Amino acid sequence: MKTVHSLKNHSRKVWTLVLLAALFLTGCGTQTVLTVPEVEPLPEPEGLRIAVASDLHLDPDNTERGGEVYAVQYSPELLDALLWDARQQNAEILLLTGDLVNGGKYHRIELLAEKLHAAEENGMDIYVLPGNHDLAPATQTGFAAMLADFGYNEAFSRDTASLSYCIIRDGLMILMMDTGGYGARSIDLPDAEIPDPDEAFLSSKTLGWAERMLKKAADEDLRVICAGHYNLLTEISHQPESGFYIQNGDRFADVLRKYDVPLYLSGHMHIRGFYQEQGLSELLTEFLLSYPTGYSVLDLTESGIRYRPRRVDVDAWAKETGQEDPVLLSFAEWQQKTLYDYSKENVAFMAEKNPMSRSREKKAVDFFYSVMSAFWDGSLSDRREEVKNMPGYEPFFLCADGFAYGWWLKDLIETAPPELAGFFLSW
Ligand SMILES: [Fe+2]
Repeated sequence: MKTVHSLKNHSRKVWTLVLLAALFLTGCGTQTVLTVPEVEPLPEPEGLRIAVASDLHLDPDNTERGGEVYAVQYSPELLDALLWDARQQNAEILLLTGDLVNGGKYHRIELLAEKLHAAEENGMDIYVLPGNHDLAPATQTGFAAMLADFGYNEAFSRDTASLSYCIIRDGLMILMMDTGGYGARSIDLPDAEIPDPDEAFLSSKTLGWAERMLKKAADEDLRVICAGHYNLLTEISHQPESGFYIQNGDRFADVLRKYDVPLYLSGHMHIRGFYQEQGLSELLTEFLLSYPTGYSVLDLTESGIRYRPRRVDVDAWAKETGQEDPVLLSFAEWQQKTLYDYSKENVAFMAEKNPMSRSREKKAVDFFYSVMSAFWDGSLSDRREEVKNMPGYEPFFLCADGFAYGWWLKDLIETAPPELAGFFLSW
């Protein structure tokens, strides 16, 4: 029997610790106060601590400002800061669930390997998975060879038909599933099946291998968690053609249920998410390069899995490592400002089609910003009524009529689960 207990009290406590380092932005004659949350250290690990990060999109060639909330120009620095922060929080293991680089060029994978090697020397074991952006020109064998020290060499077993593998340690099996989606020209493993078209899917050989691993875990009483890049549970989107799914994910989800695996970890969608379907839970870890530079922290205890979201303390990393870029030294503040600017630009764009007075437009901006920041910090479920009563609620939805943000924000406000702020899942 699996149960979920949200960490509402914990999240409230964190919220009250928010430092009111106020930024005043002037808009239409009134001032908006932005608060910059202080990043507090996590409590000591309750068991084996595993950090999970996704969609790093490491791209040293992109030095252009990404704009808005996407700090793509800082991808090398944010990866360094993530590796530092996860170790500071006493993570023993770091899982990287795909889209590690922004296109599988060899020099990008090489830079990734260099950074991961340095982090492993500081005492953290790292296991990687490919996403849809990690291959081409790199091939499957090239990827596994260049990142051999991050899972492939330590694997108890490797699937011969994909880049999936299985780690066994500390009474735990970590089933790392290569969910594909990276195109036929990169496929060179002898038993691999060529997808048609370039879809995310698990071949029958890979499914058979995974089931053999899960049977071993059941026979030896090992606990299991499973990770992949693409999303698995159909509840995540009502559009099967969305490009987020493993095409035959239903079949794999049933295999995980059969062996009582409680949690599947994924990324790819670039937003944090939590879903449950017929006893199987899925946690989506967010895009590292967008607000708020987040990752997931799991504590595996005797009784279950505790999840806490974590924001990388980029400011502390920058100070510690002697960075000179003023943005990195005040990164949390910079991100808060960029989120506000993003809200302002989007409302202004929508208001061109649905014009309104400047004071109503400003209220709509404040509303948009509040919903987005509450969603990203996991507090939107707790603050649902509060945001619905904001003076910008009605102006925003009038302004967003006919735009995707209209239905998306409405959906977010109604459905954001409390688990985004933390949960406990029994084994
Ligand atoms: Fe992806």
